[in-house]
Amino acid sequence: MASISLTNFMTCLAFLSTLALCGSQAFCRSHDGQSMMVRRHEEWMAKHGRTYKDMDEKARRCIIFKQNVEWIDNFNTAGLDRRYTVSVNEFADLSNEEFRAMRNGYKRQTSKTTYTGSSIATSFRYANLSDVPASVDWRQKGAVTPIKDQQKWCCWAFSAVASMEGINQLKTGKLISLSEQELVDCDTKGEDQGCGGGLMDNAFQFIIQNHGLTTEDNYPYKGADGTCNSNKTTAIAATITGYEDVPANDEKALLQAVANHPVSVAIDADGTAFQFYSSGIFNGTCGTDLDHGVTVVGYGADADGTKYWLVKNSWGTGWGEDGYIKMQRDIDAKEGLCGIAMEASYPTV
Ligand SMILES: *[C@@H]1O[C@H](CO)[C@@H](O)[C@H](O)[C@H]1NC(C)=O
Ligand SMILES: *[C@@H]1O[C@H](CO)[C@@H](O)[C@H](O)[C@H]1NC(C)=O
Ligand SMILES: *[C@@H]1O[C@H](CO)[C@@H](O)[C@H](O)[C@H]1NC(C)=O
Repeated sequence: MASISLTNFMTCLAFLSTLALCGSQAFCRSHDGQSMMVRRHEEWMAKHGRTYKDMDEKARRCIIFKQNVEWIDNFNTAGLDRRYTVSVNEFADLSNEEFRAMRNGYKRQTSKTTYTGSSIATSFRYANLSDVPASVDWRQKGAVTPIKDQQKWCCWAFSAVASMEGINQLKTGKLISLSEQELVDCDTKGEDQGCGGGLMDNAFQFIIQNHGLTTEDNYPYKGADGTCNSNKTTAIAATITGYEDVPANDEKALLQAVANHPVSVAIDADGTAFQFYSSGIFNGTCGTDLDHGVTVVGYGADADGTKYWLVKNSWGTGWGEDGYIKMQRDIDAKEGLCGIAMEASYPTV
């Protein structure tokens, strides 16, 4: 859906030139559907504070916007039996290819010991836990900070920090928003390359070696790589002592872990349906090419018994259900939906 036909491009460009020439917006309003879409795009631009460098870029974005809006409208109209909806969100002027390149950034695990001189994950402590509640929402227990916005692709840092914030709150009773930027700037070993992508487990190893993390307030997120500010890293706000991997490809094990605290997971978040997810229990087709780090902060089932994972994302509150997504749980594939059960882990305190 990202390809832009030349005809479409010329139409949109011609139309925008007309707009520019005629000067008065009001004059142009009575045109056909094309003008409606241009107006809708402009309203969307105003709402999201988007500007483009020139008319060419605006025309190009207008076409992508139009294709996305049509896809979204068709999806919602056609899928009446679906349990989830999509909507025109702040990513509506990005092709799916661009979206993938910009928003994700989880690096698949190649080896558990790439991070030299560090501890590695210990065994899974909840293996024998049989009594888990029917539903859990760690937000209601005060263990989840407000939704953050990664802007670029430091998803791994947000995923690691969110599970650490949860575990820290459950241990100390204090919910402290911790610094992703510290991880982005200072954790540059192994596969973690700032906003170029990284791994949650490596982040946990860094935090152990660093003896903790400072607060978000002290070391705020900039959405770009920076130089490690060692003046700030000494003001440690929370610590962890280790981390554990949830046994792979086992949604039951993931349930045992999430019953105890939030858990970092990697997912395949490439799809267009994921890009525009708005509400309900997501069960879109997706692969297991893990490219995004998020945090499972609960689970449950809806009125007709469809089970879901409650997942905290880091794409702001405009995406999904105020920044969260419900992803179908206990599906036939052992990897879980979008590979959610493949590489789950959490810090220990
Ligand atoms: C998602 O759930 C809907 C409603 O039960 C179902 O019709 C659809 O086939 C499911 N999609 C996938 C990919 O399993
Ligand atoms: C779980 O139970 C088995 C069998 O009783 C035992 O060998 C194992 O150590 C237990 N695992 C944990 C993590 O407690
Ligand atoms: C750290 O503090 C020292 C002493 O106050 C100061 O000279 C230095 O510029 C600071 N470094 C950074 C990266 O802010």
